[in-house]
Amino acid sequence: MTSIATAAWRWAAGMAAAAILGSASAAPYPERAITWIVPFAVGGPTDAIARTVAQRVATELGQSIIVENVPGAGGTLGAMRAARAQADGYTLFVGHIGTMAAAPYLFKSLKYDPLRDFTPVFRFPDTPMVLLVKQDARYNSAADLLAEARKHPEKLTFGTAGVGSSSHLAAEHLAATAQVKFTFVPYKGTGPAMTDLMGGQIDAMLDQTNVSLPQVQGGRLKALALTSQSEMSLFPGVPTLAGGELPGFLASTWYGIYAPTGTPQPAIDALRDAYMKALADPSFTDGLRQNGIDVLPAAQTGPDALRDFTASEQQKWQRVIRDAGIAPQ
Ligand code: MLT
Repeated sequence: MTSIATAAWRWAAGMAAAAILGSASAAPYPERAITWIVPFAVGGPTDAIARTVAQRVATELGQSIIVENVPGAGGTLGAMRAARAQADGYTLFVGHIGTMAAAPYLFKSLKYDPLRDFTPVFRFPDTPMVLLVKQDARYNSAADLLAEARKHPEKLTFGTAGVGSSSHLAAEHLAATAQVKFTFVPYKGTGPAMTDLMGGQIDAMLDQTNVSLPQVQGGRLKALALTSQSEMSLFPGVPTLAGGELPGFLASTWYGIYAPTGTPQPAIDALRDAYMKALADPSFTDGLRQNGIDVLPAAQTGPDALRDFTASEQQKWQRVIRDAGIAPQ
């Protein structure tokens, strides 16, 4: 189907679904389980945060949310699947910094347009990132690791969750800022990359704090530096890159729920309202914070805020990718 035919079909399907949802006698949304497509492997940070938020939103909605992992190509395979799903409120996409902002500048023939093919619904909390090596690696600081990278360009292997994933973007940003060269090793998600990092098959990773924390606490990985503005009590003694090696260096991963364009407004409103209720509950937000996740103020999380933020992040990543000289694939 051409993209015009796809858009026309989706519009027609959306109108049909809107008619059903809009009619007074129709069952209120949601009347059956909803699917959230997570475009990375099980066990990674996107999967983890999506499952936490999904569980709570499902409780508010009184319906289950099924998380379906569709990994590959830096999350763009899952995005493509979601972009083509029926726009009826029952299939949604967990998009992030890579799939919704950087992908258009990293892939020559991306088969979806993040803001044309999707409607933003709400933004999740953000996760800062942490520079990780195996527990018994000989590097004890970011300075050690970067000194090795300076001495031997392209020798250090950096695991990523695929081209355009946030672990890839942050590591490219780190390499460009520190003026070093790494060899990137793409996986289908952080889960498999982290397994190889623990096994010593790759040298380092920059990854989200939410899934790194248990590995660091369990003594399987060593945290060399954080990409947050300030140090985090959850990672005692771990300095920030911004406060030491690389002044001003910040990186974090953001995520949001996006609906295929044409999804009826009542469905979008119901999902957003359910998430806003969850955000107002300290037992939900405290649990997120205890896992190293940055909970955002409600004003930054609604559909309009997510749309504006996605657009501004696209501009940012277009610039970063161009300045870093990353050639689109
Ligand atoms: C990433 O972009 O690095 C993802 O968060 C990876 C993942 O969730 O596995």
